[in-house]
Amino acid sequence: MNKFIVGNWKMNGSLSFVDAFLDSIEEQNVAIAIPQVFLAYAYSRNPKFKLVAQNCSIYDKFGAHTGEISADILVGLGCQYVIIGHSERRHMFEEDNISNILKKLNNVISNNMTAILCVDERYEKLINRETLEFIKDNIHNVILAYEPLSAIGTGKTPSISEISNILNLLKQKYFSVNILYGGSVNSKNARDILSISSLDGVLVGGASLKLGEFKEIIVASKDLIA
Ligand code: 13P
Repeated sequence: MNKFIVGNWKMNGSLSFVDAFLDSIEEQNVAIAIPQVFLAYAYSRNPKFKLVAQNCSIYDKFGAHTGEISADILVGLGCQYVIIGHSERRHMFEEDNISNILKKLNNVISNNMTAILCVDERYEKLINRETLEFIKDNIHNVILAYEPLSAIGTGKTPSISEISNILNLLKQKYFSVNILYGGSVNSKNARDILSISSLDGVLVGGASLKLGEFKEIIVASKDLIA
């Protein structure tokens, strides 16, 4: 498979932008994390498009949890992937292994979706023993996203050799799990980053909100196989 390009709109977008996106992107190696309220619409427009949720509840199935969205609901909306533990959520909502990351991972996997587990340079702390075991047992349904704090939304990326070294370390430590890099990926640096041999794809924030820019990132992945 070509290297995986995942856009993360975060708390942005509109139904008309969903339309524009689905109308102009057909590549199979692309997925998009849109606000959950747009998922059903996107699925009805194009059931083949790979949809990603930006989060799911720690609660599973259905029940009296006002405002929550379970993995069971997400899978029913055509969602195939769920981002877990994005650094913004870890920071703003104090998400961590003990209270919720592991529960969410379990909910995603038990609904036959793939978890995109985000970590930053503190990965040794963020992936505790239980999470490590979880990754090992679900190696084909967990993708790690390495997003250094210094690169998220800053326009600054580590050097290619720095990214490459850390990816090699992560691959050794976490059973060759598939890994995405995230943090200020754009049309200019995408080809160099995607060419790192141990990298399986990228998680793109700001640049996924500009259709032309995002399409150039997809073009940059053209003949690169993960
Ligand atoms: P930026 O690409 O805007 O730096 O965001 C990265 C990110 O957080 C993707 O999940």
